Amino acid sequence: SEDNLILSFESSCDETSVAVVKNGRTVLSNVVATQIKSHQRFGGVVPEVASRHHIEQITACIDDALTEADVDYDDLNAVAVTYGPGLVGALLVGVTAAKTVAFAHQLPLVPVNHMAGHIYAAQFEKTIEFPALALLVSGGHTELVLMPEPGKFEIIGETRDDAAGEAYDKIGRVMGLSYPAGKEVDRLAHIGQDTFHFPRAMDKTDDFDFSFSGLKSAFINTVHHADQIGETLSKEDLAASFQQAVVDVLADKTVKALNAYPVKQLILAGGVAANQGLRDRLDEELKQFPEVAFVKAPLQYCGDNAAMVGAEAYVGFEQQTFADSNLNADPSLEF
Ligand code: KG4
Ligand code: ZN
Repeated sequence: SEDNLILSFESSCDETSVAVVKNGRTVLSNVVATQIKSHQRFGGVVPEVASRHHIEQITACIDDALTEADVDYDDLNAVAVTYGPGLVGALLVGVTAAKTVAFAHQLPLVPVNHMAGHIYAAQFEKTIEFPALALLVSGGHTELVLMPEPGKFEIIGETRDDAAGEAYDKIGRVMGLSYPAGKEVDRLAHIGQDTFHFPRAMDKTDDFDFSFSGLKSAFINTVHHADQIGETLSKEDLAASFQQAVVDVLADKTVKALNAYPVKQLILAGGVAANQGLRDRLDEELKQFPEVAFVKAPLQYCGDNAAMVGAEAYVGFEQQTFADSNLNADPSLEF
């Protein structure tokens, strides 16, 4: 048939994932083995522990992905893998597995940038049309990415310090929540009120950059001060106040970028794109831009997964940008 089946790998952080994706649009399988439980007692991801888990999980993930998709190696047209950015030891496991499968089965190997993968998760909702703007929010990155055409990514704004997800995880820890805290803070925020009015850093600056470390410090100071005077603060109100500050800044800079760059689509992607407060707020803001389609990565593809890697790889597959057996992990890979 003319369908292209790509076996894709993702192992950049704490999820081991293997997927089979058809034509960059249809997920035939997406197996995700999460290691979160192993990292929780350390309050964050321990690189050495992550690498070991990837090694233990990856072959079973390949078998499950092929079985669930009901395909055999002979049915595949390519192999794809995240080769950066991420933890070097974690990335190396996926890269080595992908190279091995590609070599053994004589398949082309498509190298994928993890952040581009996050953006292409949007394609499970709607085909990307160019020019597009992406608000890319994850545990390691917070950026506004302009995509003038397929395969071109231009960062027009980014965080000067913490990523949005990182800020969620850090304030969550102060609230006694387990890692990663984003989803739970989001849930609490929907119950509480913005009573603390935390600072909105850089909200009015003449650029598309973000900053979340001041907000994080203000939050931590508020909690510590209350502790010292023996006062108990509402977790729900703290969460709502924090989330409102994050969402205000992300939404304001996104609107500013949409005014500066006429695009066909706004894409929301990355782990923090699962945030309901952010999704709702951007739905509201996008009413000002009837000519811009708002494309949200489906909830189950916001966090790290290999299906998004298979979606992005289809672009490289069509353009025949293949890697050879020299492909190496690049922990600080940029667009
Ligand atoms: O993209 P991702 O899975 O991994 C990275 O590439 O970083 O993003 C993980 C981040 C974590 O910081 C997690 O707390 C955050 O996404 N996150 C959320 C929500 N769900 C996950 N943050 C806010 N609201 C959520 N609902
Ligand atoms: Zn990610």
